[in-house]
Amino acid sequence: MSSIIDQLEESRARARLGGGRKRIDSQHAKGKLTARERLEVLLDPGSFEEFDMFVKHRSADFGMETTHIPGDGVVTGWGTINGRKTFVFAQDFTVFGGSLSETHAQKICKVQHMAMKQGAPVIGLQDSGGARIQEGVAALAGYTDVFQNNILASGVVPQISVIMGPSAGGAVYSPALTDFIFMVRDTSYMFLTGPDVLKTVTNEVVTAEELGGAKTHTTKSSVADGAYDNDMEALTEIRRLFDFLPLNNRDGVPVRTFYDEHDRTDRSLNTLVPENPNIPYNMGELITKVADEGDFFEIQKNFAKNILTGFIRLEGRTVGVVGNQPVVLAGCLDSDASRKAARFVRFCDAFSIPVLTFVDVPGFLPGTSQEYGGVIKHGAKLLYAYGEATVPKVTVITRKAFGGAYCVMASKHLRGDINYAWPTAQIAVMGSKGAVEILHREDLDKPDVIAVKTADYEDKFLSPFRAAERGYVDEVIQPMNTRMRVTRAFALLKDKQLDSPWKKHGNLPL
Ligand code: HXC
Repeated sequence: MSSIIDQLEESRARARLGGGRKRIDSQHAKGKLTARERLEVLLDPGSFEEFDMFVKHRSADFGMETTHIPGDGVVTGWGTINGRKTFVFAQDFTVFGGSLSETHAQKICKVQHMAMKQGAPVIGLQDSGGARIQEGVAALAGYTDVFQNNILASGVVPQISVIMGPSAGGAVYSPALTDFIFMVRDTSYMFLTGPDVLKTVTNEVVTAEELGGAKTHTTKSSVADGAYDNDMEALTEIRRLFDFLPLNNRDGVPVRTFYDEHDRTDRSLNTLVPENPNIPYNMGELITKVADEGDFFEIQKNFAKNILTGFIRLEGRTVGVVGNQPVVLAGCLDSDASRKAARFVRFCDAFSIPVLTFVDVPGFLPGTSQEYGGVIKHGAKLLYAYGEATVPKVTVITRKAFGGAYCVMASKHLRGDINYAWPTAQIAVMGSKGAVEILHREDLDKPDVIAVKTADYEDKFLSPFRAAERGYVDEVIQPMNTRMRVTRAFALLKDKQLDSPWKKHGNLPL
């Protein structure tokens, strides 16, 4: 009996060694942790339960029949993060370069299926040379099975991808189908077609880092939602994000003890908006001053900086926040900002996370590049996302809410539940200069007349009271009371019920 038990331990020890000491050392030399080390950092100590440790590939081509490494290049199972369950898979680059075989794919599919049944997120740590070349179509089939499960799990359980090495070719599509992608600077990259092929086909000379590194994907392409300096930082931040997320689409937001006063006022907010409407201020300051303990987990921090998106807590409950950022492009909405915020709002709605929107938007960014780039369609994505969302929606207009951008930014008309405005709010079709120039074109050469007309327009429209008279703004609030007011609003809306007409699914303007 004892020898059988010893044999089990020996087999486990062999499996835990993956591709062997030399390859583990090489992984460390690149500044990367191994798959198992990563799971140790990600999960609560001792909580990891592994599945399929002894799975081997079934390939008999290209000499593979003599090379079997238990586990087949991916470590799968479940564990907890601060006591809450999650399913995980971590590709092991030391085993056939983490490449995906038929059996490797089956291991991932197993945790995806279990996650959907158990209602727990899936976190995938990607470090792979892509489809196992020796397996041909069997590997491609395996990938597609994983994609199909990504699609089925979308909106059912949160799916998070962390790119911690290569992710090339069609392999990028599994992370791309998940809710969030995070990357590690300098050691990870994602591209469909690598630098060598690019050079041959298009004559472009570019490094892997330039083509698909963390900087590229967090600032240019928006493929990734955040980047970190090393494996440790990335995994610790994923733990932080995880604490904000519901486990599934029926569970509701996590509630945790908070160390802040729900009715905390902040006098500095009364002077946040400068007197001169053309001077910017940092919307991030408002968000952190409203949040429990000032904790704001920002999503897509370095892309479309004219809009802020991320998670905060109010009275210990997660809230998704969207805020125009006047510091960048005066807070205008453009194609990128609309796409960024739309995807974020849809994630929140899918997982019943209430949405708080801070509005200071002079309008959509004008220009041929925007029009040619399809700003109409991209802006419509945000409109659609807010309009279809049935989660509690609370909006605060701090300053400008002009034109179509007023409508889009979680206005009352898009089933906004509680819409507040600061006394500094200006809600109108457009700013005074543009309006007077259109309405009084014939007087443009008479500065005195224009001055009077401008003052008249500003008096009438550039305040929150016209909207408040119609009930489009529920209440004009003191800036210093914002945390208290929005916290009370969400407490009121906690059990909100709202249905939309039956449909198979809508047709989001993609
Ligand atoms: C089988 C692979 C492999 C793969 C790497 N290895 N990629 N084995 N299939 N796809 C093996 C190597 O043979 C090597 O084995 C070990 O993994 C480490 O690889 P190295 O090349 O030594 O490492 P490194 O120099 O760090 O380079 C990593 C790499 C490179 C950039 C990922 O290995 C590479 O270019 N691999 C091929 C990438 C690729 O084209 N994949 C197919 C993409 S298309 P030993 O035994 O020496 O340690 C695709 C289609 C998916 O994935 C479609 C879905 C629809």
